[in-house]
Amino acid sequence: MEIQLWREILTPYDQAVKELIVKFEHLIKEHKEKGIYCPIEQVKGRLKAISSILDKAQKKNIEISQIEKKLDDIAGIRLICQFVEDIYKVVEIIRKRSDLRVVSEKDYINHMKDSGYRSYHIIAEYDVETLKGHKTINVEIQIRTLAMDFWSTIEHSLQYKYKKNIPDHIRERLSRAADAIIVLDNEMSSVRSEIMDAQNSFLIQANMVADILTNIQNLYHLANKREMLKIQDEFYRIYKEDNLEHLERFRRELDLMAEGYRAQSYH
Ligand code: GTP
Ligand code: MG
Repeated sequence: MEIQLWREILTPYDQAVKELIVKFEHLIKEHKEKGIYCPIEQVKGRLKAISSILDKAQKKNIEISQIEKKLDDIAGIRLICQFVEDIYKVVEIIRKRSDLRVVSEKDYINHMKDSGYRSYHIIAEYDVETLKGHKTINVEIQIRTLAMDFWSTIEHSLQYKYKKNIPDHIRERLSRAADAIIVLDNEMSSVRSEIMDAQNSFLIQANMVADILTNIQNLYHLANKREMLKIQDEFYRIYKEDNLEHLERFRRELDLMAEGYRAQSYH
């Protein structure tokens, strides 16, 4: 087939990759702006090279006219996460999106490949509008952790170097490295819950302090000055203790006090 024709065939796939990169990167940005943890750390994408398409078609005995129908990774998106748990959150996000219709899923995380490869794969339909009109194409989305991505990248380069016949002793090493990646991801997951706990109690404390300060501000108009100074000193003392329970108790006391003053001023 003529190169020019190939370009035309690949245009919508190229566009889909570019559009999806923008969309997922924007999702990361939205999370950051809202101060919410984003399960996606990094977005990558690639259009399969013509030579790789031809290689694969030949290996799989696919006729040129059948390539678009039978190769579902011409457009490829890779979503990299920090933690294994994030991968399943990203899968949920993709399932819910109206611009992606999931066709198939493969969980190579719970079902590691013999090579040691781990990732979550989704094939989804995606609509593109081009000069030639509307077209629905398949995109392959690979979701994996930073550690899994590291392993796959190294293994892929070795596959390339040895033309898929990686010597046994290197295979063995890669297999051990894959086991180490599992341990590493598990260790990181246990740290993740620590981080989440810390972030959570930080938020609770921040909200509590905001409540207390609002109450103190309101009381300024109602209580006398001497009493207010006492309350303020008490707040600073408790704040320094760095004890969430004490802070909570103080907040409730202040609530009751404010309630009492409000009732008084009403009558
Ligand atoms: P393909 O003919 O490769 O498309 O096989 P498939 O249709 O059964 O898809 P599969 O989900 O097995 O693999 C799709 C893609 O995942 C590949 O193109 C690679 O990018 C990646 N992949 C799968 N297995 C391995 C592996 O052992 N090592 C690495 N590095 N990548 C892999
Ligand atoms: Mg495939």
